[in-house]
Amino acid sequence: MIYRKNNHLSVSIVLLSVFLIGIIFYDEDAKSLTRFPFSTSKENPLPETNINEQQSTKLPAEDDGDVEFPPESCDIFDGSWVFDELTHPLYKEEECEFLTEQVTCMKNGRQDSMYQKWRWQPKDCNLPKFKGKLLAEELKNKRLMFVGDSLNRNQWESMVCMVQSVVKSGRKSLIKTGSLSIFRIEDYNATVEFYWAPFLVQSNSDDPEMHSILDRIIMPESINTHGQNWKNVDYLVFNTYIWWMNTANMKVLRGSFDEGATEYDEVERPIAYGRVLKTWAEWVDKNINPNRTMVFFNSMSPIHIKSLDWDNPNGIKCAKETSPILNMSTPPHVGTDRRLFTVATDVIQSMKLSVNFINITTLSEYRKDAHTSIYTIRQGKLLTADQKADPAIYADCIHWCLPGLPDTWNEFLYTRIVSYS
Ligand SMILES: *[C@@H]1O[C@H](CO)[C@@H](O)[C@H](O)[C@H]1NC(C)=O
Ligand SMILES: *[C@@H]1O[C@H](CO)[C@@H](O)[C@H](O)[C@H]1NC(C)=O
Ligand SMILES: *[C@@H]1O[C@H](CO)[C@@H](O)[C@H](O)[C@H]1NC(C)=O
Ligand SMILES: *[C@@H]1O[C@H](CO)[C@@H](O)[C@H](O)[C@H]1NC(C)=O
Repeated sequence: MIYRKNNHLSVSIVLLSVFLIGIIFYDEDAKSLTRFPFSTSKENPLPETNINEQQSTKLPAEDDGDVEFPPESCDIFDGSWVFDELTHPLYKEEECEFLTEQVTCMKNGRQDSMYQKWRWQPKDCNLPKFKGKLLAEELKNKRLMFVGDSLNRNQWESMVCMVQSVVKSGRKSLIKTGSLSIFRIEDYNATVEFYWAPFLVQSNSDDPEMHSILDRIIMPESINTHGQNWKNVDYLVFNTYIWWMNTANMKVLRGSFDEGATEYDEVERPIAYGRVLKTWAEWVDKNINPNRTMVFFNSMSPIHIKSLDWDNPNGIKCAKETSPILNMSTPPHVGTDRRLFTVATDVIQSMKLSVNFINITTLSEYRKDAHTSIYTIRQGKLLTADQKADPAIYADCIHWCLPGLPDTWNEFLYTRIVSYS
């Protein structure tokens, strides 16, 4: 049994806050999944709209001109946020029918929309202009799958919106079966999928509907049950972080759930995280053919729950923020557990297969303005006026509005997918 007491006061406070948020939002997460509106095979019943027609007539024009890709040597994650309403957002909230109520902040009452209009500008190069058509061409006859927690689902919803506009209605569908949600683009024989596995390895939180379990227990060496669903995928995008954050120690099962085991050891978070990522890395090295599949790992998506972290004494969590942290003289400190970042980079460096590390943590830490906050759902329903009036309790400062920050994460994927193919 590995168990050490290691609670600094400040860490405990952050953890307690995260825990309290966790009680509200992981529960919320479960409910929103239950209400996932595309739970059966569904051909889009909507008639072709003017918007679609306009978009499809725009498509050929979109292909004009070359897209320039940054050299592999350029660190695209080192840069700054630039307000650019000419190029962003990459799609309109009301034009993407596949967005769930959890993320449609404007529709849910948010008044300011600047959060949609920031572009990430790398210091030493440019990101290529996003072209949905180019991405769809690249995904032709292929599968792109996000694997992980609700932040990866957030990013998956973004990716669906980024490619869906190039496809006529009636030629795309969203099907959810168990842990797997599949967005299918008929004309390209392509899929953009999401697989629920919040710890990547087997855990007691793997039920895609009923996963709001406070006593989270994992089996750090057990990954094949999930992994068999990741085979024969062309682009795999992994993440795991937020589910680790509500206790300082992770509960590790002694034995197997399948054999009815219930006893567990408490293991320090970074040690348990290391065991999980080692299991994941071995699975990838053993099962992935690098000639077919490109593998990505997203670093941690940060949260913004203490407005003093960015020197706003009048703030309430992230609720009153309408612009990013723009003072970049020192990196923000918003309580991210950087130890897990180090574990991830160490594990990835030790792997046979070369994994694309998507370093979103620091650049997302600046985006205190981009969370769903009070413009989201709770227990399957939009927040009531009373709940909206109490952001200290109800603001979700974990997930992100769409269009918004996760679109930028997908611009990084796009850059890799389209330039190194
Ligand atoms: C991740 O990106 C940040 C800037 O956004 C940079 O400071 C940091 O060194 C990067 N880390 C790695 C491992 O690339
Ligand atoms: C369609 O895509 C699937 C999944 O990537 C692939 O296995 C299959 O060969 C494709 N079908 C055709 C006709 O190319
Ligand atoms: C990948 O392709 C290279 C070159 O074509 C080949 O030598 C290698 O055996 C392939 N690897 C696998 C795992 O198929
Ligand atoms: C930016 O942040 C640094 C460090 O927190 C601080 O010393 C400096 O005064 C800030 N600059 C501005 C313009 O607010």
